[in-house]
Amino acid sequence: MSVESTVRAVTTYRLTEMKQRGEKIAMLTSYDYSMARIVDAAGVDVILVGDSAANVMAGYETTVPITLDMMIYHARSVVRAVERALVVVDLPFGTYQGNSKVALDSAVRIMKETEADAVKMEGGEEILESVQRILSAGIPVMGHLGLTPQSIHKFGTYAVRAREEAEAAKLVRDARLLSEAGCFGIVLEKIPASLAAQVTREIPVPTIGIGAGGGCDGQVLVIHDMLGINKGFSPRFLRRYADLHAVMTDAVTRYVGDVKTGGFPGEQEQY
Ligand code: KIV
Repeated sequence: MSVESTVRAVTTYRLTEMKQRGEKIAMLTSYDYSMARIVDAAGVDVILVGDSAANVMAGYETTVPITLDMMIYHARSVVRAVERALVVVDLPFGTYQGNSKVALDSAVRIMKETEADAVKMEGGEEILESVQRILSAGIPVMGHLGLTPQSIHKFGTYAVRAREEAEAAKLVRDARLLSEAGCFGIVLEKIPASLAAQVTREIPVPTIGIGAGGGCDGQVLVIHDMLGINKGFSPRFLRRYADLHAVMTDAVTRYVGDVKTGGFPGEQEQY
């Protein structure tokens, strides 16, 4: 990014244009500088500093424990690396749900301390006041409906959401509310493909699916999952584009062997 241009090439406005043109949106998570550089240079449109950092970076079982300070650390590292993609940061659990003033303070901290482009929040009608207050401060908001992992203790399972009529109807209503409030996009996680396609047709802003089928305007995956670093996680929706677990295990094993046998460093690898 040049000094003159602090606005990245992909903006929220451009995402809406992409939807209108039928151009699919590619989104991936990143949590650190080195990974974000690769992801950005490879042409990903939106980089999500997801609270899945709680799982893949910090080793927690759920996304619930991650704090605002931890998210800010990850987001800062990502933002330093990114030249083109729009950077969206998850507001973590407990920083926006109950009180719209607290929600605004949390979002302002993210924007000021990380220089990211937008925040993402899980939920519909129940968080609408917080969403509206953050939007009214000029901070772009992305919604997140369907399986909302911050509510795992309420759901009790990571199974597909909104299979039942009542939950599906609420999801459609929530999507409309978020879109009408001014959210620039909505992540739809683990819901039937037909429902995601219906929402995508009914709202003017882009939908980004994860386990929500090909009818969405874009797709998102957790980078550790799609690179095959995370061996034990194999939901049906996940496509593995690499087996980095095997590649990294092989590299580290050979390194250990070389050190133990004195094969590393060699003549050419010392001063
Ligand atoms: O935290 C995250 O990585 C997410 C994606 C799964 C959409 O919210």
